[in-house]
Amino acid sequence: MTTDRTALFLEGLRAWFAQNHRPLPWKGEKDPYLIWLSEIILQQTRVEQGMPYFERFRERFPEVQALADAEEDEVMKLWEGLGYYSRARNLHAAAQHIAYELEGRFPTRYEDILALKGVGPYTAAAIASFAYDLPTAVVDGNVYRILARFWGMDTPIDTAAGKKAFAQLAQRLIEAAPARPSQHNQAMMDFGAVHCKPKAPLCGQCPLQEHCVAFQQQRVDTLPVKQKKLVKKRRYFHYLLLNQGHHVYIRKRVGKDIWRNLYEFPLLEAGRVKLSPAELKQHEFWKALTDGRPAEIEQVSPPRQQTLTHQYIQAVFWEIRIPEQAAAPDLEGLLRVERKNLSKFAFPKIIDWYLKDNSLYLNLV
Ligand code: ADE
Repeated sequence: MTTDRTALFLEGLRAWFAQNHRPLPWKGEKDPYLIWLSEIILQQTRVEQGMPYFERFRERFPEVQALADAEEDEVMKLWEGLGYYSRARNLHAAAQHIAYELEGRFPTRYEDILALKGVGPYTAAAIASFAYDLPTAVVDGNVYRILARFWGMDTPIDTAAGKKAFAQLAQRLIEAAPARPSQHNQAMMDFGAVHCKPKAPLCGQCPLQEHCVAFQQQRVDTLPVKQKKLVKKRRYFHYLLLNQGHHVYIRKRVGKDIWRNLYEFPLLEAGRVKLSPAELKQHEFWKALTDGRPAEIEQVSPPRQQTLTHQYIQAVFWEIRIPEQAAAPDLEGLLRVERKNLSKFAFPKIIDWYLKDNSLYLNLV
């Protein structure tokens, strides 16, 4: 049933979108593969940051088959710097599923799109609406914020009851909208991203202001409501760069931790960031790595921090020299690479920062 508030909201949103749509490379795109690619890139990523990645992926992998046939390391390298690397692994796995098991045909039903690896309800709804104009509402942080404010809904969004209430309202809206589902979802996304923003929303020039409960009751800053506060864990990484002539040792991260399938230097995770060279040399890891071979600590970097969703990572980089003729350190999966070739591998951002900072110095020697 269409209530007055619903009609007012939809009309205000339509009017805003008519004046304000953002020109983006995937807008109006009907190829489900390219829509999927853009939506995976845009998960947890700002449009400005994701755009060049989308262009590079589209250029290198214009079709799902090309992506499926690529080596995983190449996909990871193209993804480098975007973060949330499981997105890249899932993207690649799903491309192989589509290319090799679905004969290259992208699924056309919401449930089948949702079944693809790495595709959740939001992404499935976006693809189904953009590619096929199916009336499936997108629900994400933007949508929670718009609806919580306009309707004055204070059910916490991180509870089952909140999720259900917001999803039902969002779905009711797309079904009542006079606009096509693709247009309606895009309008919600853009309105949330550039107008009804988390901080400093543009209420002064908002067509919905008069009917917006949060604005009328001065609750814009307190809606939507979250129940739990996220507590981030702190971790301290000591990276050991074992330099041997022009070579250095790296290895691929495996296991269930962050940054799986990215490369890194041998890592000692410690309880603190400050460690003296003498303390480092007391560690079992140092002993195992050097195993009695001569190894000299030449330099240690100041700590730098990378903030992830659930963790703060502080890293320190130890430049260590081992003699040219010494046997390779005995650590599983270790690769010996020329330092100038490091840029061929995909590293976490914190390592990239370090390598870029040091490239000046390294070019001199
Ligand atoms: N965020 C996720 N998908 C988007 C899209 N299609 N347009 C703008 N922002 C988005």
